[in-house]
Amino acid sequence: GAAVNRRIVGGPVGRFGFGRRGVDAVRRDRELVLRHFNSVSPENDLKWALVHPRPGADGYAWAPADAFVEFGERHGMSIIGHTLVWHSQTPDWVFRADAPRSNESRQGGGTRATREQLLERMREHIHTVVGRYKGRIKVWDVVNEAISDHGDYVLRDSPWRQIIGPDFVAKAFEYAHEADPDAVLRYNDYGLEGAAKRGKLISLIRTLQADGAPVMAIGTQAHLNVTSASFKSMDQSLSEIEALGLPIHVTELDINGARQGQRTTGADVSSNSAATAGGLVAEADRRLAEAYEGVFQALIEHRESLEVVTFWGANDANSWRSRGRPLLFDADSNPKPAFQKVILTAPQA
Ligand code: G3I
Repeated sequence: GAAVNRRIVGGPVGRFGFGRRGVDAVRRDRELVLRHFNSVSPENDLKWALVHPRPGADGYAWAPADAFVEFGERHGMSIIGHTLVWHSQTPDWVFRADAPRSNESRQGGGTRATREQLLERMREHIHTVVGRYKGRIKVWDVVNEAISDHGDYVLRDSPWRQIIGPDFVAKAFEYAHEADPDAVLRYNDYGLEGAAKRGKLISLIRTLQADGAPVMAIGTQAHLNVTSASFKSMDQSLSEIEALGLPIHVTELDINGARQGQRTTGADVSSNSAATAGGLVAEADRRLAEAYEGVFQALIEHRESLEVVTFWGANDANSWRSRGRPLLFDADSNPKPAFQKVILTAPQA
């Protein structure tokens, strides 16, 4: 079988460590990744809450992240780091003045960190994590999802912005650049198919560029939906992002196939006859394939600026939105019609 364009396509392996589907399933997942993908991104293992759950130099938990990086290296894959500064999956202690004393943690109390404390914590975290994998992890999501979904505010009202101020974004990039001057540093966000959010991205990045922050690539997550994913919307989104003059990485691609009120998983339709169930799945697969075809036609159109395409999961069983069967391979790792469309659309490496 032909492989998906091996230059640009990757997938995360983060959940393989959980083994929630058993050893054999995990082995098959690994085989799928090795056969069809040439880069890996951890779904969770490098997020602050997982890699640095407690304060202090002994507060890091390296085993899963180390295993992830070793897996990538052993198989000659390019390794992506996700993510350094995010409002989610970050422990509460990060934003508190001191490590919680036992009575405070019971009450959920403690005063807030000062700007200086939080900047120092952020610097220490970034230097330690990026430094540990220097030269091995070549691409980092430095700041994730900092843009607001509401109103005219560019930045989300997160503890990062509240405590440090809007320059927390530029500071994070500076610290990451100090820690590994050769790493490609990305700003990563979702919903950039929408004009309002994309406008905020462009103004944020232009400000960072004017301030000399080392932002080197734009990550557009591309968590899409089968009802709205199209050539036109992806083409327009990439055209406008491209104007920033930075390489674009599609960082978390998937296309949710579930429509409101409609169920598409085998388990969900099992109360119908097997034929009806099969028909619904086939219809959903067909619509998904069409959506992927449109999206990949747009990606190919923008191949001059597009450096990476990462799927957010290798198969439907591992997806964070597995109910919507959003990936190229089904829960048993069989290729779906969308896979054929993608390899016909994407030029072979
Ligand atoms: O590790 C625990 C496990 O010990 C526990 O038994 C289990 C019970 O729920 O939870 C496990 O942690 C879960 C973790 O995924 C691993 O499966 C968390 O609850 C769950 O919240 C976490 O979800 C992740 C989510 O980010 C968190 O926001 C998804 O896997 C991950 O795909 C998703 O990825 C994000 C990107 O980082 C940023 N962009 C959006 C994207 C999708 O939400």
